[in-house]
Amino acid sequence: MGKRKQFLIWIAAAVIATGAFLTILLRQRWSGSLRRSSYVIGVPENGAVLFFGKKRCSTCHSINGEGGRVAPDLSGKRPGTPAMGWLTTVLWNHAPGMWRQMRRGAYPKMDTQEMADILAYLYQAGISDAAGDVTTGKLVFEKKGCVRCHSVGSWGGKSAPELSRTAAAGGASAWTRGMWNHAQSMLDPITAELGEWPKFTGDEMNHLIAFASAASPSAVHQPERHGQPERGWRVFQQKCLACHSVGSQGGSLAPALGPEKDIPLSTARFASLLWNHAPDMLRTLRERGLAAPKLEGDEILDLLAFLASLRYFEPSGSPLLGERVFRERGCARCHGTEAEGTRIAPRLRTSADAYTTVSLAAALWSHGPQMRDRAEELGFPWPALASTDVGDLVSFLNAPHKR
Ligand code: HEC
Ligand code: HEC
Ligand code: HEC
Ligand code: HEC
Repeated sequence: MGKRKQFLIWIAAAVIATGAFLTILLRQRWSGSLRRSSYVIGVPENGAVLFFGKKRCSTCHSINGEGGRVAPDLSGKRPGTPAMGWLTTVLWNHAPGMWRQMRRGAYPKMDTQEMADILAYLYQAGISDAAGDVTTGKLVFEKKGCVRCHSVGSWGGKSAPELSRTAAAGGASAWTRGMWNHAQSMLDPITAELGEWPKFTGDEMNHLIAFASAASPSAVHQPERHGQPERGWRVFQQKCLACHSVGSQGGSLAPALGPEKDIPLSTARFASLLWNHAPDMLRTLRERGLAAPKLEGDEILDLLAFLASLRYFEPSGSPLLGERVFRERGCARCHGTEAEGTRIAPRLRTSADAYTTVSLAAALWSHGPQMRDRAEELGFPWPALASTDVGDLVSFLNAPHKR
C-alpha cells in the first residue's frame, strides 16, 4: 500500500478515535480500567499533578520555567507528529542520561495510565503559548496599525472598541474569536485604512494579547479552559469541512488540515494563521456565495483540541516494518528475533493485554534501568529509536507469533 494511502487510513482511524474520545473518557470514569482500549488517553491535569508531585520530575525539569534546573525545560518544544510516538522516543533516547542522575531508590515507577497522563501533559505544555511580553506587544499594536482605530487603555484611536477588556476577560480564546469574526466584516475598511492586510508572524499575536490584557484594571489571569476534541470535530464539520479536509473527508478548496500539515496549535499562533489567511478565505467564500463561518464561545479551543488530537495518536504501524526495527535497533539481540525471549531478556508477547504506545513507554520506563545495566554488562549500545519506529514496534509486538 502506498505511503499516502496508509496515511489516509490512519487519519480516518484517528478521527474515529477522536469520536470515541468522550465515550472513552466517560467509560474511564465509570469502569476504571482502560488497558484494553487501543488508545490510552491521558488527562493533562492529572499529568501535571504527577509531574510536580509524586513522580518528582520537577526536581530536575521545569515547564515554562517552573521547576528544577538540572535537566532540560520540557515546554516550548515543538512536538513531532505523531506526538505520542515522538514523546515516547524522546523519553527513551534520553533515558540513560536521566537515570544516571537519579538515585536508585528514588526511581519512580509508572503504570500505563500515569504515563498517559504525563505524556498528555507534556504534549499540552509543548503546544501552549508562553507568557507574552507586554513591551513587545505594545510595539506590535502600533506597528500593525491596530492603534489607528483601536485603543488600549486611553491610548489609540476611538473609532473601534477599546481592547483591554476583550483580552483580559476571555484570554486568547475571546481574542481569537473577536479577531476572526471581525476580519470578516472589517476586511475592506482595514485594508483601505492601512493600505494592506497586516500579517502576524511568530509570537507577535501572543505579545499583543499580553499587552492588551495588562492594560485592563480588572486583569485576572484566567487559565484557559481545555477544548474538547469531540466538540471540535463537530465545529469543524459545520464551519470548516466545506473547504478544508482532514484525511479522506472534506472539501478541496483550501489546504488539508490533517496531521500531514504542519500548523502551530497554540491559541495565539493559530489565531495569527487564521488572521493572515482571512483575505484569501473570504475571497473564496464570496466567489462561491458561502456564508462566513463565525466562531462562538470557546469553539476555537475545541477546534484546536480536535486538530491536536489528530496529531497525537499514532498511525497504526506495520508489523513487518516493526520486525525489522526490532532487529536493527538491537532489541532482538536481547529479546530474540521474534521477541520470544532469551536467557538475557524476557519474552515480550506474553502479556494478555495488547501493547499501546503508552503501555510500551511505561514498560520501557519501568524496566529501563535493568535494560541499561544489561546493555552495559554486555557492551551493547543503547538502542536509539526514531519517532516513527514506535507505531511499527507496537504492531509487531501485538502481531501473532509466527511459530
Ligand atoms: C534526577 C533528575 C531527573 C528526574 C527526576 C527526571 N529527569 Fe528527565 N531528564 C534528566 C536529564 C539529565 C535529561 C537529559 C538526558 C540526556 O540528554 O541524555 C532528561 C531528559 C528527559 C527528556 C528528554 C528531554 C529532551 O530535551 O529531549 C524527557 C522527555 C524527560 N526527561 C522526562 C522526564 C519525566 C516525565 C520525568 C518524571 C517522571 C523525569 N524526566 C524525571 C533528568 C531527570
Ligand atoms: C480600520 C479600523 C480598524 C483597524 C485598523 C483594526 N480594527 Fe479591529 N475592529 C474595528 C472595528 C470597527 C471593530 C468592531 C466591529 C467588528 O467587530 O467588526 C473591531 C473589532 C476588533 C476586535 C473584536 C473586539 C471585541 O470586543 O469583540 C478585535 C479583537 C480587534 N478588532 C483587533 C484588531 C487588531 C489586533 C488590529 C490590528 C491588526 C485591528 N483590530 C485593526 C476596526 C479596526
Ligand atoms: C470558504 C472556504 C473556507 C472555509 C469555510 C474555511 N477556510 Fe480556512 N482557508 C481557506 C482558504 C482558501 C485558505 C488558503 C489561504 C491561503 O493559502 O492563503 C485557508 C487557509 C486556512 C488556514 C491556513 C493553512 C495554511 O496553509 O497555513 C487555516 C489554519 C485555516 N484555513 C483554518 C480554517 C478553520 C479552522 C476553518 C473553520 C472555522 C476554516 N479555515 C474555514 C478557505 C476556507
Ligand atoms: C541489553 C539487552 C536489552 C536490549 C538491547 C533491549 N532490552 Fe528490553 N529488556 C531487557 C531486560 C533484561 C528486561 C527485563 C528488565 C526487568 O525485568 O526489569 C527488558 C524488558 C523489556 C520490556 C518490559 C517487558 C515486560 O515484561 O513488561 C519491554 C517492553 C522491552 N524490554 C522492550 C525492548 C525494546 C522495544 C527494545 C529495543 C528498542 C529493547 N527492549 C532492548 C533487555 C534488553
